[in-house]
Amino acid sequence: MCGIIGFTGTANAVPKMLKGLSVLEYRGYDSVGIAAQTAGGVDVVKCKGRIHVLEEKLRDEPLPESRCAIGHTRWATHGGPSDVNAHPHRAGRVVLVHNGIIENYRELAADLQKSGVTFLSQTDTEVAAALINACYDRLGDPAAAIRQATDRMRGAYAFGILFDDRPGEVWVIRRGSPLILAKGQDGFYLASDMTALLPFTKQYCAMEEGEIACLTPEHTLLMREDGSTQPAVWKTTSMTPESAQKGGYPHFMLKEIHEQPGAVRKSVSPRVADGLPDFSADGITPEFWKTVKGIQIVACGSAMHAGLVGARVLEELAGAPTTVHIASEYRYYPPLFSEGTLVVVISQSGETADTLAALRYAKSRGVPTLAIVNAVETTIAREADRRVYTYAGPEIAVATTKGYCTQVSVLWTMAAAIAYACGRMDAAQARAVVAALEQEVPQAIEAMLAKRDQFARIAKGLVDHEHVFYIGRGLDYAMSMEAALKLKEISYIHCEAYAAGELKHGTISLIEPGTPVFALATDPALVDKTESNIREVRSRGAQVTMICREGTAVPAESTDEIVYLPDGSAPAVLFAALTAVQMIAYETAARLGCDIDRPRNLAKSVTVE
Ligand code: G6P
Repeated sequence: MCGIIGFTGTANAVPKMLKGLSVLEYRGYDSVGIAAQTAGGVDVVKCKGRIHVLEEKLRDEPLPESRCAIGHTRWATHGGPSDVNAHPHRAGRVVLVHNGIIENYRELAADLQKSGVTFLSQTDTEVAAALINACYDRLGDPAAAIRQATDRMRGAYAFGILFDDRPGEVWVIRRGSPLILAKGQDGFYLASDMTALLPFTKQYCAMEEGEIACLTPEHTLLMREDGSTQPAVWKTTSMTPESAQKGGYPHFMLKEIHEQPGAVRKSVSPRVADGLPDFSADGITPEFWKTVKGIQIVACGSAMHAGLVGARVLEELAGAPTTVHIASEYRYYPPLFSEGTLVVVISQSGETADTLAALRYAKSRGVPTLAIVNAVETTIAREADRRVYTYAGPEIAVATTKGYCTQVSVLWTMAAAIAYACGRMDAAQARAVVAALEQEVPQAIEAMLAKRDQFARIAKGLVDHEHVFYIGRGLDYAMSMEAALKLKEISYIHCEAYAAGELKHGTISLIEPGTPVFALATDPALVDKTESNIREVRSRGAQVTMICREGTAVPAESTDEIVYLPDGSAPAVLFAALTAVQMIAYETAARLGCDIDRPRNLAKSVTVE
């Protein structure tokens, strides 16, 4: 989704914009642009396409040397990808970049048109630029103009703004869309996320909703909605520039899959004290867990899939009735809240607009909220009543792997904590669960990573197919949803997840000779039933790969290929299966030559509803 970068200081700004934009590429984008300010005003170069297209354009139309600039990667919403729709947008003396959506842009545009304003693009952003410019013409003060203009805007936005006649100043405001500020040795920065700034600095400041910032080469001043002003307070991130680099792997996705063993350990260990599940470091006491009588998990995409696994574990271990909701639907089909309901939102990025809106809805109803988030100090993390961080480190590939993996491991630890606090598990049982998560799961993932040749062979058999199925029962069905998403989002092969017993109620009509079907069967209690479903599809010609524990007795006539998972505890076997399906997706996309880390049309952090 759109990425913003900006700088003002003593160094040449345009190379910094290009560097920052190349880091932001992972968010997903279709056009790109830079505005550079000099004493003569602001110059803009922008185009449809990737950063190398902009670099070529800059060779023909170089920007003047500048110490103050903003840059943008656009993910099209209003108006298709084109040179004219790309950001930055200019209106009068104002040049800006925007992340978010101005929902009432038509109404604002109509008002501006009445006073003679014309628009070149189809974007809501150009309307925002024109409105700020009109206010600036009237008021002559950037802060007052930005405040007055944004007070009329509905929707979500983060703006980086240059004014022709304010050399050296970058103006910033955010509401609903992410933006952070940073301080380097040679000046001040703004960006959509910290990873874009890691090449320059580690000192950052998270902006509050509705806050305006003015960055100059000397200082950064923050202006609250109530009119008060204060200098920015800087914190130091623990992220390193290396954590946002490929580290010798051909793709971030492969690197991130390999980082899973460490990421699970890092995410579970802080929640273990004396071998028992313990969230006191997150400020959550056993007394709080005892108040939880029911859980609603709300999230999008893979985070929602992690919730599907978590819900089953929470119900089984903690006995807490748990429902899972797609965040974008949550407000339109309001769930019933009762005494003891806890709303758990899950988000790797901490900025997903639909999840944030659901969180705000729950809070507006007075329900306690808890966020499971990877990116620290993000909006969702800050707004939830309680937060539990996953420690996956920066995740750059659009298709999440270690993010999902750590979300499931934290949910599992949470289930054990609630079960132990409520007396549904004794100390020995609770210890066994966290030991499995902390020690056995990372080992199981490592063991699967050693089977790359088998995954590559399986991938070879998939590339010529248009449709693939994943089937499973219980936890395996929940995991199948993520397996199918992983394959389709990066390889573009259509893949459906089905409850193994449901396929025969209609979808089996899609099975043709050769259709690949993956059967997840990690639960020994359900293997026989799943095997019956395998026979149903196999007798109709499906090419079946079974993913099951070592030692599972699989009749030769049931399957074409078996991926064996090291036998062990339920979490260890499930995470081993996760690694297998991730690697199958990766190898398939690699063989097809897909843009694995940046699949078409997708964005890493979806900051619009
Ligand atoms: C996007 C990403 C998905 C991700 C989803 C939720 O659609 O492409 O990979 O699962 O957003 O993101 P979040 O950051 O809230 O976990």
